[in-house]
Parts: sequence; C-alpha cells; structure tokens
Amino acid sequence: MAVVLIFVPRPSLSLHPSYGVSLGDDVTVRCRMSHSPSRVWLYRGVTSELYRTADTERDTAEFSLLNVIPDNAMTYRCRYKVLGSGQTSELSDPVELVAIDHSYPKPGIALSPAGRVGSGSNVTIRCQGRDYGGPTLLYKDGSSAPIQRRDPDVGGTAVFTLFGVTPADGGTYRCSYRIGGCCSLSSPLGDNVTLEVVPQGDGGELRWTPPWTVVGGCVAAFVITLIFVVSFLLAARRRRMQRTGSPGGEKRFRSPDLL
Ligand SMILES: *[C@@H]1O[C@H](CO)[C@@H](O)[C@H](O)[C@H]1NC(C)=O
Ligand SMILES: *[C@@H]1O[C@H](CO)[C@@H](O)[C@H](O)[C@H]1NC(C)=O
Repeated sequence: MAVVLIFVPRPSLSLHPSYGVSLGDDVTVRCRMSHSPSRVWLYRGVTSELYRTADTERDTAEFSLLNVIPDNAMTYRCRYKVLGSGQTSELSDPVELVAIDHSYPKPGIALSPAGRVGSGSNVTIRCQGRDYGGPTLLYKDGSSAPIQRRDPDVGGTAVFTLFGVTPADGGTYRCSYRIGGCCSLSSPLGDNVTLEVVPQGDGGELRWTPPWTVVGGCVAAFVITLIFVVSFLLAARRRRMQRTGSPGGEKRFRSPDLL
C-alpha cells in the first residue's frame, strides 16, 4: 500500500485558564492539530509522557488537570500521529502552567517618586518580598505577561527602573515573585501602585487655554464694542442736537415772535 507522505505541522497547545491559576484549581490542556489524529500524546516537563489518547479523529484533544498540585505546575507539550499516513508531528512549543501558592505572602510595592511625574523622568518600582530562589516579576495593568523580571537581592527586594517615562507608561503596576525549586509556583500578586505621567517641557502648561478665558475674552470684547458704539451714538446725537439747537433754537424762539 502506498502511503502519501504529508508535511505535518506542529500542533499548538494552550491552557484554559491560561493564567491566574491557583493550587487546587482545575485546568484544561488543549492540543490543536491541523490534521485528524489517530493518537495524541501530552508531555509534562522535559519529556515525561503523561497521557496518550485512544483513537480520536477530532482536531482538538483536551486533557483535564483536576485539583492542580505543585507537581502539575510545569511546562506542557503535545504531539500527534496523523490518521491514515501514520506520520508523527514534532512536539508543540512548550507552555508553562504557573500555579499561585497562596501560602506565600504577597510582595509589597513602592513607587518612587510617588504621585505624578513629568514625562522623561526615571521612575523606580521596588518590590519587597523574601528571596525564595526565583525571580521577581513586574506586571502592568493586570496583563498576563510580566513586563520585566529581576532577581531579588538577599533581602528579597527587586528594583525595577522605568527610564524616561512617557504618558503611555502611566497605569497600575503590581509584582509577584516566583518560588525556586521543582515547579512553576508563584506568590499571589501584590497590591498595585499607580503611575501618572504628565507631559512636560516646551511650555506644555502654557499652551493650554482654559475655555472660560476664551468665552470671557469674547464677552469683554463685545461689551467694549457695545460701550464704544453707544457712546459714539450718544456723542453724535448730542452734536446733532447742539447743531440743530443753536440755529433751530433761534427759529423756535423766533417763531412765536413771528406769530
Ligand atoms: C535617567 O537615568 C539615566 C541612566 O542612569 C540617566 O542618564 C538620566 O540622566 C536619568 N534621567 C533623569 C531625568 O534623571
Ligand atoms: C489598586 O488598589 C486599590 C486599593 O489599594 C484599589 O482600590 C484599586 O481598585 C486597585 N486598582 C486596580 C486597577 O486594580
């Protein structure tokens, strides 16, 4: 029987939920394939085989991890055998299951300088934990991926510097630390700090004209014009009255004489 060899793309693996998993939670590992498989393997860690499905023709295989324990917090990969050709794909990219262990304390966090800073400033965020052998991670606005990672000093403090901040760096920041050892364990996320960056330099504050200044200016100009027009009209009327007053007045005084 002739077997047609096909190119077998690697499957892709995902975790659901993908982050914020705590010890004791349930997680689904999903392996998505571009060809119908006859068999799917799930591996944990480097190459320890964890599951092997029976025959399946669906292009997605799901594996449930119930009540996650520290040993479950590792990287996962999957691989499959194509239905019909019997070829086997390569392993998917590894995906790390990080589990939060709430028995570790939250790290503290401090922002320096505190409050608003002008754009271009250097800002320091200090995360205070204890050194449990793993890096400290800094997150912005609740995103799942850390924006920076640092090894803490012996006192457990990790210092993150944001150089030359711009308004886009404004937001809330939190940190957590990883626990060294067998597994991908993390402390809970700590409290947040809020960074506010205001534009600075090139007369940024002076360029802004409050709306009431514009309205006030228009009103003042209108009032001044009105006063000018009214006083001009009054002066013109007075002049006309004076002009008609002297000859006309004579006439008016004369008229009774003529009558
Ligand atoms: C920010 O830090 C860099 C590197 O240490 C330094 O060259 C720069 O002058 C600092 N900028 C400000 C505004 O302090
Ligand atoms: C930041 O923490 C404060 C309390 O410390 C809380 O009221 C606020 O909702 C938090 N902000 C975010 C974005 O989580």
